[in-house]
Amino acid sequence: MDKREILEALTAPDGEALFAKARVVREKTKGNGVFFRGLVELSSVCDRDCLYCGMRHSNVGAHRYAMRDDEIVACAALARELGFGTVVLQAGECPALWTRERVAGLVRRVKAETGQHVTLSLGERAEADTAAWREAGADRYLLRFETTDRDLFARIHPGAPRDGEHPRLAQLRRMKAQGYEIGGGMMLGLPGQTLESVADDLLMLRELAVDMVGLGPYLAHPDTPLGRDQTPSEVPVSVDFTCRCYALARLLLPRANIPSTTALSTLDPEQGRLRGLASGANVFMPNLTPAAYRADYQIYPDKICVVAPQADSLDALHADLATLGLRQVEG
Ligand code: 5AD
Repeated sequence: MDKREILEALTAPDGEALFAKARVVREKTKGNGVFFRGLVELSSVCDRDCLYCGMRHSNVGAHRYAMRDDEIVACAALARELGFGTVVLQAGECPALWTRERVAGLVRRVKAETGQHVTLSLGERAEADTAAWREAGADRYLLRFETTDRDLFARIHPGAPRDGEHPRLAQLRRMKAQGYEIGGGMMLGLPGQTLESVADDLLMLRELAVDMVGLGPYLAHPDTPLGRDQTPSEVPVSVDFTCRCYALARLLLPRANIPSTTALSTLDPEQGRLRGLASGANVFMPNLTPAAYRADYQIYPDKICVVAPQADSLDALHADLATLGLRQVEG
């Protein structure tokens, strides 16, 4: 698939044919199984000042928390009880809080005490840090590159270099060489983002040969500079457009693990997550962050917690999956 075909698929009057094609490929590579990964949001403390994110350092109105190691291990134990197989440990970027040694110890504990696979999502980190975590047993790392458009990337990430290699692409390549399964992706609908750059982003996923794809709509946060920016975007913030990107990612990378993301459910709480799965996604990431902390992990406003970790809401989710002929599998 080339850039012209991708742009055609992104702008065709109707996405249904594309979604159907992606479902066929998903069925071939993944059967009817959907992986569940337990998302644990370790802390809302962040050193960075990304213009779009509600947890940016300069947002003094945001309340900050950090979980203790024993609380984190307890969340991983819950993931095991629920038959998930993987926990995703995500946090605002803060190397002083999430030191090389602490994270390595945490990875060892989670693996030894719960047997869960560990996906880390701790932002831009030094090669020696990710090497140590891999050594400790971390299996995967998620780092969205957000956009391949270098000017746009530099505009929304204060301090990011304008020349040389894209820092996040560079880190993803390094981590691939370290033996991680890597996950990359982008936000859709950023002010000033073009359709052409989204086609480039999709092609970049293939070039990197990512194992996981993390992409979702950009949701303006009122307490951020980008949230107040009225610059239009060629890229729609919609469930339909996001689903077209899932479908294209599925066609470009037939074996990738593609979550139907929380931001999609925020756009459409009733149908969002299922429409994601109906367009080629095969992963669901229920939020296992303890209730006391959840409201303070405000990347974007009104982030809904798709599934509380109670048996009854998981039942509702399984019933939803069954309507698409899908079922939860462990892995
Ligand atoms: N809207 C949507 N997604 C966002 N993220 C950060 N801020 C927003 C926002 N306002 C995404 C970024 C980041 C991931 C953890 O959350 O893509 O990589």
